[in-house]
Amino acid sequence: MRETWVIGAATTRFGKLAESAREAATRVALAAIDRAGVDPKAIGATFVSNCFGVAEHQAHLGPLVNTGLGIPETPSMAIESACSSSSAGLHEAFVHVAGGFTDVALVVGAERLSHLDTLRATSYFAMGADDPFETRQGATFPGLYAAIASAHQDRFGTRTEELGAVAVKNHANGALNPNAHFQRPISLATYLASPIIASPLRLYDCCPFSDGASALVLAAREVSRRPSAEPLVVRASARAGSIADLQDRPELTGIPASRRAAERAFRQAGLTPSQVDFAEVHDCFTIAEIVALEDLGFFPPGAAARAGAEGVTARDGRLPINPSGGLKAKGHPISATGAAQVVEVFEQVNGTAGARAVPKTEVALTHNVGATGGSCSVHIFGRR
Ligand SMILES: CC(C)(COP(=O)(O)OP(=O)(O)OC[C@H]1O[C@@H](n2cnc3c(N)ncnc32)[C@H](O)[C@@H]1OP(=O)(O)O)[C@@H](O)C(=O)NCCC(=O)NCCS
Repeated sequence: MRETWVIGAATTRFGKLAESAREAATRVALAAIDRAGVDPKAIGATFVSNCFGVAEHQAHLGPLVNTGLGIPETPSMAIESACSSSSAGLHEAFVHVAGGFTDVALVVGAERLSHLDTLRATSYFAMGADDPFETRQGATFPGLYAAIASAHQDRFGTRTEELGAVAVKNHANGALNPNAHFQRPISLATYLASPIIASPLRLYDCCPFSDGASALVLAAREVSRRPSAEPLVVRASARAGSIADLQDRPELTGIPASRRAAERAFRQAGLTPSQVDFAEVHDCFTIAEIVALEDLGFFPPGAAARAGAEGVTARDGRLPINPSGGLKAKGHPISATGAAQVVEVFEQVNGTAGARAVPKTEVALTHNVGATGGSCSVHIFGRR
């Protein structure tokens, strides 16, 4: 395999976009290409994610984006893996570049849903669950993650205030991110006063519905000797799956796909969790961040919630988690999320994260889950 770098990265602000997913995808792809300093014609393959194009009456975004970039003859592929779509796209791009199929590849994820009300958006998102066994029985994603939270509370005594600490931390980080959906800090009291959405999860336990787009440019080391920005060396690109339905899993306090993808990633990179300096993990709900930190091996089962409440995962803590604000505060336009996590790593490594800069940026990890964990991607990045 060839050493592969991320040489360009860009994102829109998350929240409400005035433009379509197609326009946002093209705009952000141009920005990433510009930052990479490559000629668009060098791109040999484009991997485009847009789960809910149907809500905009626009599918088959790949050729449209490529045409907008002036490279209509470049092959494109649509990648759908629910909330982990663009990290799955990143994996495919990595395979293409590392495997020698192309020297430069583009990853784009875009979503626009803000023209839908909460009921309709919830029913679109629920399509990522099992229709006969979950969705038609009334389950929504807040409900499914509430089941995970209840199981975690039963087994480990996880406290409401510990869930709240994740929300307070990620809102504090989001307040420093000009691209975040929510840019206001919240207090624990505000969290505790917020309404229950799906018991035990409250409003501030949930990520919002966001529009947004993010893009990455990957290249083989040998073709990008003088990149215009500090590149990210892809030290591991791992994916894994698990039984899609919660009711069929032997236990709910962890996500098997996260554990498998993490094991593979650490093996590929030849690293251990203790060598990671900071991470962007999938916190679609506060409980998801806690479970992720345990599945990734950063904390033993049942220990992450307390560590978070003690400040270990704060920006200035021993292991900063979600300095971008995470899905909770930066937002979760599902197809853009995986790529956006890598955009945050790119900003941190390039010293352009401003006030939310973390102290150490030698090794970073991104973790992105599809739905309740039927699919998962874990990437590990280092410096040249
Ligand atoms: C939590 C949720 C139900 C709230 O929806 P809602 O009650 O219809 O909220 P509204 O859109 O009417 O917004 C009401 C207010 O709450 C705020 N808000 C909405 N969602 C929020 C969230 N998740 N966190 C914090 N504030 C939120 C809005 O900004 C708005 O504030 P304002 O009155 O100051 O403008 C919705 O955001 C949701 O379902 N989130 C989860 C999405 C999801 O499942 N994603 C997939 C994960 S796998």
